[in-house]
Amino acid sequence: MDKEQDIIQSWQANAGNWIRIIETDGIQSRKIATNKAIIDIISAHQPVTVLDIGCGEGWLARELAQRNITVSGVDAIPELIAKAKEKVKGDFVVASYEDIAEHSTSLKGPFDAIVINFALIGKESTENLLKTLPAYLSPGGHLFIQTLHPHSRKQMDDYESGWKTGSWDGLGDQFTQPYQWYFRTLEDWLQLLNSSGFAKIYFTEPLNPQTRQQLSVIFVCTIK
Ligand SMILES: C[S@@+](CC[C@H](N)C(=O)[O-])C[C@H]1O[C@@H](n2cnc3c(N)ncnc32)[C@H](O)[C@@H]1O
Repeated sequence: MDKEQDIIQSWQANAGNWIRIIETDGIQSRKIATNKAIIDIISAHQPVTVLDIGCGEGWLARELAQRNITVSGVDAIPELIAKAKEKVKGDFVVASYEDIAEHSTSLKGPFDAIVINFALIGKESTENLLKTLPAYLSPGGHLFIQTLHPHSRKQMDDYESGWKTGSWDGLGDQFTQPYQWYFRTLEDWLQLLNSSGFAKIYFTEPLNPQTRQQLSVIFVCTIK
């Protein structure tokens, strides 16, 4: 089956598991660093409206709404969007990245900021999505992307962009249907953002406060 479809089907199968693990604060790296990092960097830019793409069950949208930001969210999985609607007052839409790229959703932009938190997983879906996002941003608006730190694969001696075997290791046995995901080197991320119409690209590297190891990277950019 198509790798991009595998990703969506896996999220469909694991939506309930995901809701439980997020609601019980079950992912250590999120608890100790990456949640706060993405909230802080978005807040520092003081957007009035934010679109959360691949919003999952809505935890980040809720945090932003609590800071008086008007939030919209989109995700392919109906169960996750239903949960987000329960938690947060906002405009939540079931749609895939392909739908966003084709402008076939009811999303009402433009937005002051767009955030994609650990939700760019495929290859073509990511490429097609990113190049349409400038059209969803207000002039001077920002795109925030948090993702696994590319250097984590240097330790594995596999620092080459491409599809990688995935797993749910560490999240518990109830997770099923691991999928392949598309890895990008730091250089390839920067090139992709640039060729998608973004400029003034910079990034921060949230650390594990104990080990000082990089846990993720957050790219921040504006439209060219
Ligand atoms: C790791 S979760 C992150 C969820 C949320 N951003 C968070 O920080 O908890 C990845 C999310 O991306 C969504 N997703 C992945 N590929 C997608 C696609 N092609 N279209 C729409 N949603 C997608 C999944 O349904 C899932 O909710």
